[in-house]
Order: sequence, then C-alpha cells, then structure tokens
Amino acid sequence: MAYTIDLKGKVAIITGAAKGIGLATARLLAEAGAQVVIDDIVNPEIVEPVLTEIASIGQKPYYIQKDISIEQNTIEMVKEILDKFSRIDILVNNAGVVADWDKSYAIHVKGLFFCSESVKDHMISRGNGRIINITSTCVHTGGTGIPQYIATKAGAYSLTRYMAKTYAPQGILVNAVMPSVILSDMIMTRYKSEEEMINHYVPQMPIRRIGYPADVANVVLFLCSDLSSFINGEIIVADGGRMYVG
Ligand SMILES: NC(=O)c1ccc[n+]([C@@H]2O[C@H](COP(=O)([O-])OP(=O)(O)OC[C@H]3O[C@@H](n4cnc5c(N)ncnc54)[C@H](O)[C@@H]3O)[C@@H](O)[C@H]2O)c1
Repeated sequence: MAYTIDLKGKVAIITGAAKGIGLATARLLAEAGAQVVIDDIVNPEIVEPVLTEIASIGQKPYYIQKDISIEQNTIEMVKEILDKFSRIDILVNNAGVVADWDKSYAIHVKGLFFCSESVKDHMISRGNGRIINITSTCVHTGGTGIPQYIATKAGAYSLTRYMAKTYAPQGILVNAVMPSVILSDMIMTRYKSEEEMINHYVPQMPIRRIGYPADVANVVLFLCSDLSSFINGEIIVADGGRMYVG
C-alpha cells in the first residue's frame, strides 16, 4: 500500500516564503494539494515567476506582501485570507533574518507570536489547526557568532512549547523544525561561494552532505499531515545528524 499526504481543501500560510526554506515548503504543500498563501516583504513582481511555477504542480499560491513583525499586518493578513478562502488550516512561521537585536526580536519572536495569535481564534472556531515554527539548532549549539540570531531563535523554540501547551486543548497542534546547514541566501551571507560553504560543512556532517530547503519542507509537510496527529510541542532537528552525532 502506498501512503500519500493529501492536503486538498486545506489552506496554508507560509511566512517569508518568497525564497529558501519557505518557498520549498510552499512548493511541497501545493504539490500535496493545499491552497498555499505566500507571505513575504518583497514586491509582487519578484514572486510572480514562482507563483506561476507552483501553479504548474498545484493550485496557484496567493501572495500577500506583509511585514509580519507588525501586529496589525498579521491581523490584516488573516482577515484577507479568510475573506478570500474562508479557512486557514496551517500556519508555517518561517520568516527569518540575520539582523540587529531589535529586528531579530521583532521577526523571530514577536512576529511569530503575532501571526499565531491572529490565526488562533479562527482555528479554534473550527476545532483544529496546525502551526509549525522554524527555529534553529544554534539555540543548542551556540551558533556561529550571531548572538542576536541565536537568542531570538530561542524565543521561537520556547514559544513553540508555550503555544503547544495553551493552544492544543482547543485543537491546534504546535510543533517546530530545528534546521541547520541549509543552503539558502541566509547562510550564504557568510560564504563567498557555494563551494566554500560545502567544503566548510561537509566534514562536520555525518551524512556527508549539506542540507537543502526541501529537506526542511519534508519535515514541515509531515507536521501538517495526519501522520503527526499525536505530536505536539515537539521540535524536530533536521541537520543530517550534525548536532548530536557529528
Ligand atoms: N538556512 C539555514 O541553514 C537555516 C538554519 C536554521 C534555521 N533557519 C531558519 O529558516 C527560516 C528560513 O530561512 P532561509 O534560510 O530560507 O532564509 P532566506 O533568507 O532565504 O529566507 C527568509 C525569507 O524571510 C523573508 N522575511 C524577512 N523578514 C520578513 C518579515 N518581516 N515579514 C515577512 N517575511 C520576511 C525574507 O524576505 C526571505 O524571503 C528562517 O526562520 C531561518 O532563521 C535557516
């Protein structure tokens, strides 16, 4: 028997999904049948080509240009999606930056919480929902010299536990993915070339390769699906074994 994950009829918001891990997640969830809503801060013409590309494998994503670090924006985002699609089943809090203290806190901690709180009442009214946060293994390892990133990704970690505790009795399961060493524009700010990045990390990786955005998207898809129906407050490490056995 073949197992499939079918998200047909479901609506999923993914924040910060114009590129990288968010985009790979949007692509995979659309492939699984979901109506995806991509949120990001970039102009619509930048995302139009990926919306068109995803439309060839699933339903065309709807794009919303909102900075999720502003609470009012997250309220408006949820209202706009409910007006258009009448339901929201999944929220993936993926938007992230390498920035100063205030901006890092505003996006990784406050923005993540604002999005979740904005969508919460609707999910509760329907008796179910899934929220998946993207944190980072740097919370445990101390990372690589960016304290404002590490400390605020720890906020995403602890809010996962807080929300899992407070939302689950009302039907919303909240979990997180903790990636590391995923090829994206964010990680490439620290390397001159992809080759340099690969040469730096591969020797530390038990599986002898770096990660790609789809590696994280696969875990998110699992956490959106019925296969994870008894998982709540869990933070799944997706790092090729680097943190624990590398
Ligand atoms: N790449 C890695 O190795 C890695 C490791 C651990 C965790 N992460 C986390 O994964 C997530 C995705 O990172 P990525 O590597 O794909 O980075 P990325 O830079 O490719 O993508 C981040 C996206 O977030 C968007 N964004 C930034 N601020 C925003 C805001 N205020 N509102 C809405 N969107 C906003 C950006 O425009 C961008 O499209 C982040 O939360 C990051 O912290 C990445």
